[in-house]
Amino acid sequence: MLDNALRTVLLQAARSPGVRTVVERAPGSRAVVRRFVPGTGSEHAVEASRDLLAGGVRVTVDHLGEDTTDRARADAVRDAYTALLGRLADAGLTADGAVEVSVKLSAVGQALGPDGPAVATAAAHAICEAAAAAGTTVTLDMEDHTTTDATLETLRTLRADFPWVGAVLQAYLRRTEGDCRDLATAGSRVRLCKGAYDEPASVAFQDKHEVDRSYVRCLTVLMAGPGYPMVATHDPRLIDIAGALAVRHGRGQGGYEFQMLYGVRPDEQRRLAATGETVRVYLPYGQDWYGYFMRRLAERPANVGFFLRSLMTRG
Ligand code: FDA
Repeated sequence: MLDNALRTVLLQAARSPGVRTVVERAPGSRAVVRRFVPGTGSEHAVEASRDLLAGGVRVTVDHLGEDTTDRARADAVRDAYTALLGRLADAGLTADGAVEVSVKLSAVGQALGPDGPAVATAAAHAICEAAAAAGTTVTLDMEDHTTTDATLETLRTLRADFPWVGAVLQAYLRRTEGDCRDLATAGSRVRLCKGAYDEPASVAFQDKHEVDRSYVRCLTVLMAGPGYPMVATHDPRLIDIAGALAVRHGRGQGGYEFQMLYGVRPDEQRRLAATGETVRVYLPYGQDWYGYFMRRLAERPANVGFFLRSLMTRG
């Protein structure tokens, strides 16, 4: 109950420019953020990717940014992605999709008024071309529920040229079981997560157990279908259930993958990889870490205590 209230406050703060200024300027912020975001430049992303690959896990890199409100910024994010893909390829990290990228469509213009979805689709198309040249793939992150239809429409458009583009579906949304059925097709890469935004009860389950039950129903659909499920969770029970569902549906290791966030349960990431599972780590980098960081705090109240203590000791 208290956790839910704290989560709502933190997720609202994630969209508040005032709180953003305070958190960004707090002296201890950087050190805490570094747990989840290894650096601000593409060189940090390349270096961290190399380390993760050496540790036996694959990577999806996110150039941080969201809710872009001007065209120049959207174009700059698109260009940052194409440059990043070039650097990753030059470093020999992209072969066979070992390191791919994740893209938030709002960062490349989806929210720029009526033309926004078209601007974002064109930008994502350019990023997919760069990924294809690098021999790797792209996954479209999913943002709040007002963007779901537009994001799935962009996905359909991109898949006509790049059938390997991955989608994300959020188990907390009531619609998602149906979306899983639509996307559980041959060649379709679907990342299933719980969902990280503050959503109303009209569209999303509010109770944690209901979200977990929805996750299992959605995962069952994905595991039973001919697509490629990407199981994005740190939840030990859901990880076990995913393994059992894979066995029940005759999927060997490599027929699906686990995904976790950089800095969250790294021991479990390594443990799963050591058992032969495919594990991919979501690796964010960039200056625009505020929204991403606040969502990580909202996921785990213990992180808030850690953050506040660090501000007090360093401030
Ligand atoms: P849950 O939050 O119940 O956590 C289970 C356990 O994991 C916790 O008890 C704790 O031990 C550990 N844990 C989880 N989060 C932690 C944290 N921040 N810090 C420390 N420990 C933590 N969401 C979205 O809306 N759109 C998207 O595109 C994506 N993309 C995405 C990619 C990948 C690879 C992952 C792993 C997650 C996302 N998410 C996302 C985020 C997702 O929706 C969800 O908010 C988080 O994964 C947390 O949910 P869990 O399934 O881990 O369960």
